Amino acid sequence: MKILLATEKAFAPVAVSSMREVIDSAGFKLDLLENYKNKEDLIAAVADADGLIVRSDLVTKEVLDTASRLKIVIRAGAGYDNIDIESCTAHKVVAMNTPGQNANAVAELVFAMMLYQIRGGFNGKSGSELRGKSIGIHAFGHVGKLVAEIAKGFSMYVYAYDPFVPETDIRKYGIKVLKRAEEMYRICHFISLHLPYNSATRQIIGYDLISKMPSPATLINTARKEIIDENGLLKVFEERPDLVYLSDVEPDCKAVFAEKFKGRYLFTAKKMGAQTEEANINAGVAAARQIVDYFINGNETFRVNK
Ligand code: 3PG
Repeated sequence: MKILLATEKAFAPVAVSSMREVIDSAGFKLDLLENYKNKEDLIAAVADADGLIVRSDLVTKEVLDTASRLKIVIRAGAGYDNIDIESCTAHKVVAMNTPGQNANAVAELVFAMMLYQIRGGFNGKSGSELRGKSIGIHAFGHVGKLVAEIAKGFSMYVYAYDPFVPETDIRKYGIKVLKRAEEMYRICHFISLHLPYNSATRQIIGYDLISKMPSPATLINTARKEIIDENGLLKVFEERPDLVYLSDVEPDCKAVFAEKFKGRYLFTAKKMGAQTEEANINAGVAAARQIVDYFINGNETFRVNK
């Protein structure tokens, strides 16, 4: 049984060796395609693979068409918007993710970006503090929960909005639940986005919500750039010199930011949220275990294309 680990942004070596141990001890073979630059490399490597593990790598219909032996693809991470789920189903390929495994790394990045920004990038001038400020968490999944816990540690006032999570489950975290997104944006000086990207959330955060934030306002996006309506964001930026945007990763309109909004943004060139050794080990080993458990026991617990 050949398992291909294809990562355009490689895992830490310690994570890969832990994954290899899991796969070797099941009697399977692990092949690596790391830091590849074009889709042709993935298409060639997947041709004789029985299982595939990826990160944000694009698993398109074209990839699946070539992978005639493929039975399962695992997104070692949370968001599976990079996988053509319908094509997986059409090709009778099981698709899974590893929810929660890299959540802490993403939550910590939220605070790393906020602190760096409010301290002026450590430029020698006086900055500001998080204590006593309000933060709104938009979507209360694995990352949102950890952001809430860390924010409480900073003595921030914490709010959350998530129409898909029962209010009682959010209240357990000792934070305030809001029934409407607009209410939260009106109250919070910091808003942290944790929505998955899908057809319902595409460009869902735009002018209407962002312009409601009190001054000064900081929007932090460690989810996906596609959930932002960039035209709406740029419009608020033109109107509101107090607005700051921190994003993991760069928006498509990054050139406009560079030209017009110096000092009011921070963008990572490559998605860095899950890029810690711990997150790589957690997500990578979970993916390896899930693939072995699927082939040996037929376990489909984390299947997303039911
Ligand atoms: C995720 O969805 O798990 C995170 O965005 C991390 O993505 P990455 O594995 O491509 O860094």
